[in-house]
Amino acid sequence: MSDEQHTKDSGEQDLHDPLKFENEEPSTGDSPIPIFLLFLLAGLCFWGGVYLVQFGGESGFSKEAYTLDYDPHADVVIVQVSLFDRGAKVYQAQCAACHQGTGLGVAGVYPPLAASGWVTGHQESLARILINGLNGPIEVVGKSYNGNMPAFGPNGLNLKPLDIAGVLTYIRQEWGNEASEFTEATMNSYMDQYASRATPWTAEEVVLDLGPEPVADASVAVEAGAPVPEAAH
Ligand code: HEC
Repeated sequence: MSDEQHTKDSGEQDLHDPLKFENEEPSTGDSPIPIFLLFLLAGLCFWGGVYLVQFGGESGFSKEAYTLDYDPHADVVIVQVSLFDRGAKVYQAQCAACHQGTGLGVAGVYPPLAASGWVTGHQESLARILINGLNGPIEVVGKSYNGNMPAFGPNGLNLKPLDIAGVLTYIRQEWGNEASEFTEATMNSYMDQYASRATPWTAEEVVLDLGPEPVADASVAVEAGAPVPEAAH
């Protein structure tokens, strides 16, 4: 071997030596779970337990935790949610899919509730529509519709009278609508009359044989008697 050849070989050797150690042969066998992962898991389990105790409802997993006005931290006092606020939640959950969050409905398919005389009119017609549903042709804010409005009474989606009273108060007072509150007592009395009816109303029927309009609540009466502000120029 010439000297020149020798230096070249040892040069290559120097280059290859470090490379040999870089990739270890793959080996089989168990490698332990990193200890920090165990701590993380233990921590998560603990947090989950604390969460369930805090929000699972008093004395074991109470179904109260799923009602609208349940407050896990209230001892005995149940926080009163106003009819309007309760109604806003019911509306989002039960009505907005069709009548839309804006109350404007969907052209030609779902009629608007904003500016609708059906909404701000006689409470008994409105209660009938909600309890038993509505179908057939109807005119709302100058446009014709012909669809099916589901029933929300016991023969339909079965909302509590308080929730129906809430949603009706909401739609009568949202989007510029200005009509009286719809109380739970009023709703209960209409429930007694119409809960057993199994068929939906038609637009012609729903306005027939109405009883006296329930007395509007005091605050609305005061507002109605207040001087009308002059229009801005
Ligand atoms: C599955 C879609 C759908 C849902 C959900 C729905 N509605 Fe309706 N609603 C309709 C249709 C369709 C009509 C028109 C029925 C007809 O053509 O006779 C209507 C009509 C009405 C009317 C009378 C007409 C008007 O626009 O003023 C009122 C009031 C009303 N709905 C309120 C509600 C309220 C409140 C809820 C929720 C609790 C609700 N609707 C949920 C589809 C729906």
